[in-house]
Amino acid sequence: MDGPARLAQLGRLRRDVNAALDQIAPASLSDNRVANAMRHALLSPGKRIRPLLTLLAAGQLGCPAATAMPAACALEMVHAASLVLDDLPCMDDADERRGEPSVHRAYGEDVAVLAGVGLLNEAYAVIARADTLPQTARVEMIAVLSRCVGVNGLIGGQDRDLLACDSRSFDELSRLHHEKTGVLFVAAVEIGALAAGATPEARETLRLFGCELGLAFQAIDDLIDRQELDGQRAASNLLSVLGADGARLEAQRRMERARQTLRRGPPQLATMDGYLELLVSPAAA
Ligand code: IPE
Ligand code: MG
Repeated sequence: MDGPARLAQLGRLRRDVNAALDQIAPASLSDNRVANAMRHALLSPGKRIRPLLTLLAAGQLGCPAATAMPAACALEMVHAASLVLDDLPCMDDADERRGEPSVHRAYGEDVAVLAGVGLLNEAYAVIARADTLPQTARVEMIAVLSRCVGVNGLIGGQDRDLLACDSRSFDELSRLHHEKTGVLFVAAVEIGALAAGATPEARETLRLFGCELGLAFQAIDDLIDRQELDGQRAASNLLSVLGADGARLEAQRRMERARQTLRRGPPQLATMDGYLELLVSPAAA
């Protein structure tokens, strides 16, 4: 498959993800503010990178997109929950997200907290209910996802990110970026592996690959964010330790390591390489 064909395939998969999310999101009900806020958070226009990674990993290993779709949607639900909570006034205090008012701006802070927690709760439920997948796979997926969200993952990373600090070393920042961003990339591909009933070797390859891709993605995101840096947030941005050229090199280095990991793994995974640039490059945004 060539580049344009892969791009078209990603476009189709993204449409399928959006259709599935539309089905999963709570219905709009005039008297249920939290349901409306959850819908807003989940369906606002994002790139859907994490569910696409799940579908691609599963697909490489022979699992049809329709089978892995509920699990892929759960990844987007966790991501959407993390964005709602990250934007709150007590966290990053952001007025906008994905070009729209952030959830607390549109629905109030109280409703936003409940919507974030509600999306997280529903993410696990979606996997538990997914009768396209064997029960043992569902249990393992929920274990992977809850570990990824936990105190050594998104929650711990968010806390570390909020700690007031003037500067961080490269290693400290890499750890923070892994916890804030990388762990969800790892969970996305690992859950794709579980959907496909992958061998331990394929699962491990995808785990290492997800780590590198997550850090590449965060380096690219930091380059995009550089215009908006204020004092406190600057210390969480890679540009504060590496500068723009260094961050660009770091993104390339991590992408190359992600590719190498795929090349060294089981042969079915090697062709995932062709999708990476399309998924994480700013042009894909
Ligand atoms: C933004 O993620 C938050 C980070 C982890 C850097 P994305 O850039 O994937 O956000 P959406 O989903 O496309 O809006
Ligand atoms: Mg961003």
